[in-house]
Amino acid sequence: MVSSLPEHVTVFEVGPRDGLQNEFETVSTGTKIRFIEQLAKTGLTQIEVTSFVSPKAIPQLADALEVVMRLHATRGVTYSALVPNLKGLERAIESGIQQIAVFTAASETFVQKNIRMDIEGSLRVFKEVIDTAKPHGISVRGYVSTGFVCPYEGEVSKEKVAEISKRLLEMGVYQVSIGDTIGAASPLDVQKTIGHLLAKLPADKIALHFHDTYGTAMANVYAGLQLGISTFDTSAGGLGGCPYAPGASGNLGTEDLIYMLDRMGIHSGVNLEAVFHASEVIAKELHRELPSRQWKRLRSKDPLKS
Ligand code: HMG
Ligand code: MG
Repeated sequence: MVSSLPEHVTVFEVGPRDGLQNEFETVSTGTKIRFIEQLAKTGLTQIEVTSFVSPKAIPQLADALEVVMRLHATRGVTYSALVPNLKGLERAIESGIQQIAVFTAASETFVQKNIRMDIEGSLRVFKEVIDTAKPHGISVRGYVSTGFVCPYEGEVSKEKVAEISKRLLEMGVYQVSIGDTIGAASPLDVQKTIGHLLAKLPADKIALHFHDTYGTAMANVYAGLQLGISTFDTSAGGLGGCPYAPGASGNLGTEDLIYMLDRMGIHSGVNLEAVFHASEVIAKELHRELPSRQWKRLRSKDPLKS
C-alpha cells in the first residue's frame, strides 16, 4: 500500500475564498491582497483568491474584481476564482484572472440552496461558461460538492458523484474537486466513492476537498493518497466553510497537510512556516486563533501581538 503513495502532491490553497467567504466579519480588501501575496511566496502553485458570485449571496467577497485587479502576478502561481454563471464570468474576464472554477454538487437540495439552480440547470449554465471562458485562455476547474454527505439529504450515492464528475470533465474542466462540504466523511467513504470514481477517471483528473468538522479530514487525505490522488484543497490556518451548508466548519489547514506530507517524505514544494506567516495576516485582522494545529503550535512559539 505505502509503495503506491504519490511522490509529489499539489496543495491547492482555497483560504482566501473558502476561508473568507464564511467569516462573519468582512476582511478588508488590502488585507486580502496581503494574505494572497504572502501565500504566493510560500511555494504554493494554485491559489483560489475569491468568487465572482452575487454579492447578496456572499457579501464577504463583494470586492472580487478589485482583489484580482490589484494582485501582482507571481511566477509559477496560478490564481483562480469561483464563477457560478455568465455574469460572474464577465467579471472574471474583466479581472484578467487565469483560471476559474464552476461549482455544482451531487445532491439537488444543496445545489438549490447554494446557487438556486437544479443540477441539470447548473450543468447547462456551466457549459456556456466553459465554452465562453476557453477562447479567453482561461482554464476551468469543477467542484462537485456534497460528494459524500449532504446537509439536507444525508448519504450521497457514489454513482451520482461519478456521473456529474464525468459530465463536467466532458464539458472541458481540467480537473474535478470532490468536496466533503460538511466534513462528515470517513476514510471508508473516501475508499468507496473515490474508488468508484477511479474506475471511470484517471487519478490526475481528481482532487479532494475536505472540511474538518468532525476531525476526519487528515485521515481522509491519507485514504486519498493510498488511492493515488495527488491534489488536495486546503485552507491556510484551517479557515473555511460554506454559508449554505449548515454546520460546515473550516477546510483542512494547509499547515497541517504540509506537516504530514513533509514527515512522510512526500514533496509539495510548500514551506510550512511561510504559510503560517501568511495566515497570521488574517489572524491579526480577525483578532482570533485559527483552527490549524500547526498554526497553534507555531503561534505558541511566536505569540501574536493584537
Ligand atoms: P439568483 O438570485 O438566482 O441570481 O442567484 P439571479 O440571476 O436571479 O440574480 C439576482 C441578482 O444577483 C441580480 O442583481 C444579479 O445581477 C446578481 P439585482 O438585479 O437583484 O441587483 N448576480 C450577480 N452579481 C454578481 N456576480 C454574479 C451574479 N449573478 C447574479 N455572478 C447565484 C444565483 C448563483 C448568482 C447566487 O445564488 C450565488 O451567487 N451563489 C453563490 C453561493 C456561493 O458562493 N456559495 C459558496 C461557494 S460553494 C462552496 O463553498 C463549496 C466548495 O467549497 C466545495 C465544497 O466545500 O464542497 C466550492
Ligand atoms: Mg469548501
